[in-house]
Amino acid sequence: KTYQNILVSTPAKGVTLITLNRPKALNALNSQLFHELNQATEKADNDPAVGAIVITGNEKAFAAGADIKEMKDIQYAHAYKSNFLGHWTKLTTIRKPIIAAVSGFALGGGCELAMMCDIILASPNANFGQPEINLGVIPGAGGTQRLTHAVGKSRAMEMVLTGNMIGAEEAASTGLISRVVKEGSVVDEAVKVASKISSKGQVAVQAAKEGVNAAFELSLQEGTRFERRLFHTLFATKDQKEGMAAFAEKRKPTFTHE
Ligand code: HXC
Repeated sequence: KTYQNILVSTPAKGVTLITLNRPKALNALNSQLFHELNQATEKADNDPAVGAIVITGNEKAFAAGADIKEMKDIQYAHAYKSNFLGHWTKLTTIRKPIIAAVSGFALGGGCELAMMCDIILASPNANFGQPEINLGVIPGAGGTQRLTHAVGKSRAMEMVLTGNMIGAEEAASTGLISRVVKEGSVVDEAVKVASKISSKGQVAVQAAKEGVNAAFELSLQEGTRFERRLFHTLFATKDQKEGMAAFAEKRKPTFTHE
């Protein structure tokens, strides 16, 4: 399958790497690009050989937002009737872990794309922001929600109301990203993390992702109940028997994802 706006490769066993590839437009996320991203992530999700996905951009930009030139003339009735950009949320239905490897600008929809991923790693030159306010609009793909969950109300308000960007260190210290890595190594690091995840049992990995994500939807009581139920279900898997037997026998487990 050939795509026009993304590149797809397998940099390591069990890892799909998706590179956003509109460098001249700083990877502005036009509608077609996101459709391609949905196709590629869905394909990886359904491929038993894939354990985790990495999404990256280039040195200068992860993505500088939704494509402003594409949306500037849109009318309200069309936006509403067509559920404009509604297809972006499909990424949040992917069951396998997705790691964002961010260098350069992650702005607007680019920051929201990163926040839809499960883990964010960043280069020292990464910049995160929600500059939609400068365009007379507001974030439309989770920025007011996921950013607030990630960095808290005051910082989210400051970013969303001023459009100011924050750097990689600040993004790490506020919990927006998991860590800053050495310059030039963000894709390698992300692939390493994805490889490691890929070596685990896929049923447990999927349950773990479901569990953590439930923390954003459920009360503590309901969330821990859901977690315990998921935990119980894993005793029905061969991977649990193998994982615990391997520990007791002092050997490495071989997971079969069953
Ligand atoms: C379309 C974009 C773009 C975007 C950059 N470009 N961002 N095109 N949509 N979001 C294009 C520029 O028009 C230019 O094209 C080329 O990429 C290089 O960009 P420059 O501006 O020349 O680069 P630079 O001077 O280095 O400035 C970088 C920048 C700036 C600070 C990131 O490009 C910028 O402010 N971009 C817009 C950021 C933004 O507002 N994002 C939020 C979008 S709204 P030409 O043809 O001139 O070379 C959004 C809503 C999400 O995301 C809703 C989701 C549902």
